[in-house]
Amino acid sequence: MKKRILVTGGTGFIGSHTTVELQEAGYDVVIVDNLSNSSADVVDGIEAITGQRPAFEKVDCTDYAALEAVFKKYAPIEGIIHFAASKAVGESVLQPLKYYYNNTVSTINLLRLMPENGVKAFIFSSSCTVYGQPDPENLPVTEEAPRKKAESPYGNTKKIDEDIITDFCHSGAPVSAILLRYFNPIGAHPSALIGEMPNGVPNNLIPYLTQTAIGIRECLSVFGNDYNTPDGSCIRDYIYVVDLAKAHVAAMERLIGGKNQEAVEVFNIGTGHGVSVLELIHTFEKCTGVKLNYKIAGRRAGDIEKVWGNVDKANNIMGWHAVHTLEESLSSAWNWQKKLRERGIM
Ligand code: UD1
Repeated sequence: MKKRILVTGGTGFIGSHTTVELQEAGYDVVIVDNLSNSSADVVDGIEAITGQRPAFEKVDCTDYAALEAVFKKYAPIEGIIHFAASKAVGESVLQPLKYYYNNTVSTINLLRLMPENGVKAFIFSSSCTVYGQPDPENLPVTEEAPRKKAESPYGNTKKIDEDIITDFCHSGAPVSAILLRYFNPIGAHPSALIGEMPNGVPNNLIPYLTQTAIGIRECLSVFGNDYNTPDGSCIRDYIYVVDLAKAHVAAMERLIGGKNQEAVEVFNIGTGHGVSVLELIHTFEKCTGVKLNYKIAGRRAGDIEKVWGNVDKANNIMGWHAVHTLEESLSSAWNWQKKLRERGIM
């Protein structure tokens, strides 16, 4: 019998790509999503890619009773990958209670339900945001670098959730966890059947860029060219979403196979390379042949100047590597944007 994995937030950007990779690796997937920032159509896209329809339950993870019913209905569940969370940094500053409530109560509910339902493996969707701006000697940043004071309530929920999970796993509960700290996930599935679908005006760079390239937005603002970086724009570690999705499969296999060495393990998931905003724009123009309308604008409040990951631990211990290039990631994001236009969605 196939092993069954519960994926919360499975119709979202990273969740949908991870569901595809789990199915292709031979797992059965149950998606739980409240559709607050995604659409149930994504399940069709997943099915079109894998030929297998994941089970889908429209449930909010803050609803303990509804979540409990899912655990019972789909027993036995072997592992959980927890993506479901509110994730807009700016909104979190304006509505902190929404973020603290959604992002911590969901995690607590899942953890509470694990022992009584015999679920032992938990993977958490964390972020390099927990490192804040690493000190220069800590770049590329390793998992050992200190976690800094969060820049936003959103970032703080990632830290708090990491602590909640760690304390629970260390309490003697029969649960092991892997915290995956992602750098900047970008791109879309090569089939262009699933991808990133932000509501309204995108906050993140890639959807804003591809929407500008296709003419939905007039001009991309580069937030600052006076940073202490070679070209003055911020530096990030952009990881292809399919590579990132595969890291979840590797992490799940590690937990289910009992290969983890500690109750809680932390892995950075990135490429190990930093790329500036301007470099990224020029790479996009080169690999797609599309000229992008962009301008230099002022800095965005709360932005980190430069961060990229040391990913040796994930490479050496999990045997996972990011294999796709920035060109491939950006081309896939562009193909997805064009497919949305073809489908009349954007
Ligand atoms: C942001 C969050 C991070 C969160 C992640 C989730 C902030 C400060 N950080 O990461 O905590 O985990 O999203 O997706 O919001 N940029 C532009 N023009 C734009 C948009 C972005 O120049 O229109 C630049 C930004 O200044 C940054 C880079 O592009 O240097 C990437 O931005 P973005 O995609 O928003 O990601 P992060 O800020 O790295």
